[in-house]
Amino acid sequence: MIARSTLESRIADRTAVVGVLALGYVGLPLVRAFWTAGFNCLGFDVDPAKIDALARGENYLKHLGDDFVSEMTASDRFEATTDFDRLSEADAILICVPTPLGPHHEPDLSFVEQTARDIGRRLRPGQLVVLESTTYPGTTRDVMMPAMLAAAKAQAAGPYEPVLGEDLLVAYSPEREDPGRKDTSTKTIPKLVGGLDAASGDAASALYRHAIAQVISVSSAEVAEAAKILENVYRAVNIALVNELKVILTRMDIDVWEVIDAAATKPFGFQAFYPGPGLGGHCIPIDPFYLTWKARELGETTQFIELAGQVNTKMPAWVVQRTMLALNGRGKAVNGSRVLILGLAYKPDVDDVRESPSFELIEQLQALGAQVDFHDPHATVVPNTRNYKKLAGKQSITLSPEALRGYDVVVIATHHAAYDWPEVVANAPLVVDTRGATRSVAGDKSHVVGA
Ligand SMILES: NC(=O)c1ccc[n+]([C@@H]2O[C@H](COP(=O)([O-])OP(=O)(O)OC[C@H]3O[C@@H](n4cnc5c(N)ncnc54)[C@H](O)[C@@H]3O)[C@@H](O)[C@H]2O)c1
Repeated sequence: MIARSTLESRIADRTAVVGVLALGYVGLPLVRAFWTAGFNCLGFDVDPAKIDALARGENYLKHLGDDFVSEMTASDRFEATTDFDRLSEADAILICVPTPLGPHHEPDLSFVEQTARDIGRRLRPGQLVVLESTTYPGTTRDVMMPAMLAAAKAQAAGPYEPVLGEDLLVAYSPEREDPGRKDTSTKTIPKLVGGLDAASGDAASALYRHAIAQVISVSSAEVAEAAKILENVYRAVNIALVNELKVILTRMDIDVWEVIDAAATKPFGFQAFYPGPGLGGHCIPIDPFYLTWKARELGETTQFIELAGQVNTKMPAWVVQRTMLALNGRGKAVNGSRVLILGLAYKPDVDDVRESPSFELIEQLQALGAQVDFHDPHATVVPNTRNYKKLAGKQSITLSPEALRGYDVVVIATHHAAYDWPEVVANAPLVVDTRGATRSVAGDKSHVVGA
């Protein structure tokens, strides 16, 4: 109990050291939120390049803005390290490691398990451990906790067997980051918190209340885990719905964008979702399938999730077909045509290309014999990815009116604010617009097709 009360008083007077484990799209803004709230922060990551950049005061996630990392590094309240032995210095450890899918669409919890062992090996009385990574309900209690306890039992100094709610507090609090979004921040997005027991939930909620404007305590870690999955399933299903409608309405020569805007004038009962060339990012294409996997274990099926997955996965092929038909209308074949994809990132104004449908568009068009280039102002080179190895190292072209005129067709995949749409429409001989980006462009648009 002494350990717990020490932790609680450190949280109350902001002297608790907050450790954030994994400094990616989720972890780095979380460090900023706690540092801004006055806490001493320790950042951990396995990637020495990230740690070195932070030590130099450099931010590698440009959408977060430039200044804050140098301010944090210059202060005596932030340090980043690859030395996990320093986990014992942290009173609270917030885990933001990746939770990808394995090759057969099964949850890959290896990062969570590894992290649990890393923490368990250094666990000491009076620590709060919170998992933030998106996952299926039950992960914190049934996967993370046992791995952490097993490692604690095997500590070099002798077995350590902490008692939950007394000398170890464990909770789940889902991250709700939306990188690139300007109207919210880590601080202003309400945060759900659910503990493995009441004391853990209370301690985690008390901590987050210092850094986040609104904290909602729920009755268990499982409720918080399930709520996060519900949020992502809701998006995946609704995006699939408008993608399916887009295909039908396009055949009827009805503008799906105008239809959605019209429906969105209803002040209740409707929320607008927009179609696109397919799903991208770390969350929506991946997380719903964590629940699918769990449901299978229980002998249940998740038909909405799987149907949404099928519809969304088919979108790049549909865009390729529209491109093919558009070229055909001009007496051209895809084979041998020069194609420019505008936008490599999966959404506007960020450099995040994870699971981006642009990769699929490039590969499918190349497979049909097209010469495909891309342009992206934020993601200028294709990184190494698990699924698109052949594209690694490919560079963005330099965009200009002359460059646009040199392609047979320009496919708009991402509506970055930096693009000058009237210039694209005026110079590209043929435009395939998957984002409704050219809707407000005036003048002749007979060479623009929706997809
Ligand atoms: N990106 C988003 O918009 C978003 C939004 C909500 C939730 N999430 C969830 O947050 C989690 C993290 O996602 P992200 O987007 O920040 O990922 P990311 O790829 O940006 O960052 C992950 C970081 O983890 C580090 N890492 C990998 N293994 C590690 C280990 N064993 N120990 C310490 N560090 C390790 C990597 O070097 C990297 O810096 C995922 O579960 C994701 O589903 C992401």
